[in-house]
Amino acid sequence: MTIPRRVRIYEVGPRDGLQNEPSVLPTPTKLEYIALLRAAGLREIEATSFVSPKAMPQLADADELMRAVASPGAGGDVRYPVLVPNERGMARAEAAGARAIAVFTAASDEFTRRNIGMTIDESLAAFEPVLRRAGELGWWRRAYVSTAFGCPFTGRVGVERVIDISLRLAELGADEICVGDTIGVGVPSQVHELTGRLVDAGIELDRLAYHFHDTRGTALANVLAGLEDGISCFDSSTGGTGGCPFAPGAAGNLATEDLVYMLDGMGISHGVDLAGVFAAARFIAAALGRPLASKVGQAGGWDPRTGGQLL
Ligand code: COA
Ligand code: ZN
Repeated sequence: MTIPRRVRIYEVGPRDGLQNEPSVLPTPTKLEYIALLRAAGLREIEATSFVSPKAMPQLADADELMRAVASPGAGGDVRYPVLVPNERGMARAEAAGARAIAVFTAASDEFTRRNIGMTIDESLAAFEPVLRRAGELGWWRRAYVSTAFGCPFTGRVGVERVIDISLRLAELGADEICVGDTIGVGVPSQVHELTGRLVDAGIELDRLAYHFHDTRGTALANVLAGLEDGISCFDSSTGGTGGCPFAPGAAGNLATEDLVYMLDGMGISHGVDLAGVFAAARFIAAALGRPLASKVGQAGGWDPRTGGQLL
């Protein structure tokens, strides 16, 4: 398999990046962050979650935020998926003007129960009407399989489990299956195995995406493994923020600037401007009152395309 010449960078900063933060950012600050992400060239920005505000107070402004994001003039060429756990969330997403959703389950029953109060089977049953409705509306539909490389409560996860759940989500109509290493325990050989098995099971390569956390420093190595497998969509969070409050130790999504740096250096196109990502990363780090988590953000200085000075 040859490495794709072009990939999609799916930005999860406004959702995954903010959901684990102790502080709750004001809606205008989030909107400014999203505007900076858009200005950096990101065209898929997961905006928020229509979940219980009690479960996720950081994203309790989802209705107001999405209304602003979906308003004319806020970037019609950008896809803003929102997380939806059930029909209630779908109704809210519809009312707020969303046009793309992501449903989310996991490869571990225990994690799924703690995250959304359902078993995996129950979650798939809850998603069925949600995905159907979104399909009727012509929305883009993503489905996450979290904890695919390991569960914080029950340990290792079998590949068969991930394949079985992915196939069922594909059958329910998901346009894209995003396989997540929620607690950042996976390594490249496991990525190769999983991609190979998913494709053998009948899930097309261009229907697969990977979501890596850099908790143990393996996220970029795992992206490279995915690229070698022919995967062309990767998730990242500008500033390297994020994690799941229901997954102990799930710190740090792969930072968008680290991903962009590597792709730029490899000559893989993606449409995102590294300097623009830096601007958004600095903005969100300042808003959250903490230093940049990304390697590239800490080092700076080197344009991977030219070797010249950057920023
Ligand atoms: N939006 C807003 N409120 C919702 C909702 C939604 N989509 N779904 C349920 N609720 C409300 C209910 O009305 C109820 O409110 P009440 O306590 O005032 O009566 C409360 O949430 C609990 O609802 P219930 O149906 O009993 O479900 P639950 O307590 O088992 O919670 C979820 C299920 C999915 C709503 C909840 O676990 C959740 O929102 N989890 C989010 C997890 C998440 O975002 N994780 C990060 C992504 S990895
Ligand atoms: Zn994540």
